[in-house]
Amino acid sequence: MKTLKLIGPITQILTMDHLPLKGALKDEQLEILENAGILIEGGKILEVGNFESLKAKAKTLGAELIELIGDHLAVPGFVDCHTHICFGGSRARDFAMRNSGKTYLEIADSGGGIWDTVTQTRILSLDELTEKTIQNANRHLAQGVTTIEVKSGYGLSVEEELKMLRAINKANDSTSADLIPTCLAAHMKPRDFTGSNSEYLDEISEQLFLILKYEKLTNRIDAFVERSAFSPEEIKPYFQKAKDSGFDLTVHADQFNPGGSEIAILFGANSADHLEASTEKEISLLANSEVIAVALPGASLGLGCAFTPARKILDRGGALAIASDWNPGSAPMGDLLSQASILATFEKLSTAEVLAGITFRAAAALGLEDRGRLKAGSLSDFCLFPTSDFQEILYHQGTMKPVQVWKKGEKILDKRF
Ligand code: NIG
Ligand code: FE
Repeated sequence: MKTLKLIGPITQILTMDHLPLKGALKDEQLEILENAGILIEGGKILEVGNFESLKAKAKTLGAELIELIGDHLAVPGFVDCHTHICFGGSRARDFAMRNSGKTYLEIADSGGGIWDTVTQTRILSLDELTEKTIQNANRHLAQGVTTIEVKSGYGLSVEEELKMLRAINKANDSTSADLIPTCLAAHMKPRDFTGSNSEYLDEISEQLFLILKYEKLTNRIDAFVERSAFSPEEIKPYFQKAKDSGFDLTVHADQFNPGGSEIAILFGANSADHLEASTEKEISLLANSEVIAVALPGASLGLGCAFTPARKILDRGGALAIASDWNPGSAPMGDLLSQASILATFEKLSTAEVLAGITFRAAAALGLEDRGRLKAGSLSDFCLFPTSDFQEILYHQGTMKPVQVWKKGEKILDKRF
């Protein structure tokens, strides 16, 4: 039998319902329910509405009442649609070198960069890597992030990429957060591969794709389209094979040079992520496409470079999600709400735009329609903040954390105890 529970009274619920997937949003468009409750049945929301009416209904249905005392604000559980939280080691040395003015090449030549993390990830066993992924996922979950995309990309051989994706899937079984695995074998050509970029991609697509399908490890393929990684021309045949095999696509695009977002549009990718170097041309193309633009302020903060032109993307009518890019190199902070709040101050984003970017718009970037809004039929994933005013959330720039996190109908964090 499924458990019925009524949670309330909640001072304000931001449902994020009735908001469009694309374009700019004003805070006046937010649906705010006051003195409200959330009636859940198992992992799904049965109804969101006035607390007193729901209380009467709950009584008739025999639902358990989870009574809240004091002010609470409910928002959908956050969705982080771009992370690299499955990794070994640390890149603190890279970070210090970059802050002391060393260039990307100098850092790579001294043993840093993505390859360093590949080396430190390869030495871990499947179980060790699984454990690290669970720890990172649980830290995110405690901050209200109930769905987390997790990329491979620090294995960079058929066997090591498989180890990473198996670890992410195993971690998914041991954390309450939903982990959405993505294969990023096309992160860079590994230093120990003697052939060309295209030969590496051929090997991956010929040997890895079938196993990913067979073991149901992921249905998502990502690639880093960049001068230091793979060119648009090198990625085209790789993406064509991935698409023909039925994978969804996503792209690390326009991070330092434009080019990747056009590939994302050409192949109908779910999302184009980064976009710090997108020009007017890419911004317009993206805004007129169905591809979700994903801003990664954590990478801008980690590298000390420009933010994704979020304001322009929204004003031209694009769909904008915001993700943490949590990784050991360019984005070590791993705090989605802080990063999204900081992006808001620099890009002049409304609260509605920021919250949409880390809820239903981020869910759409993962092809998920069952979460990101608090409405009947959606997953009962939500967090409660200790405030009576939704504007307090971004005002605290991420330092106000949820006091309760609910995932699929279970309270998995309660700060009062
Ligand atoms: O999204 N841009 C490429 N990949 C990661 C960085 C990975 C790393 O430096 O380890 C990113 O920023
Ligand atoms: Fe990334």
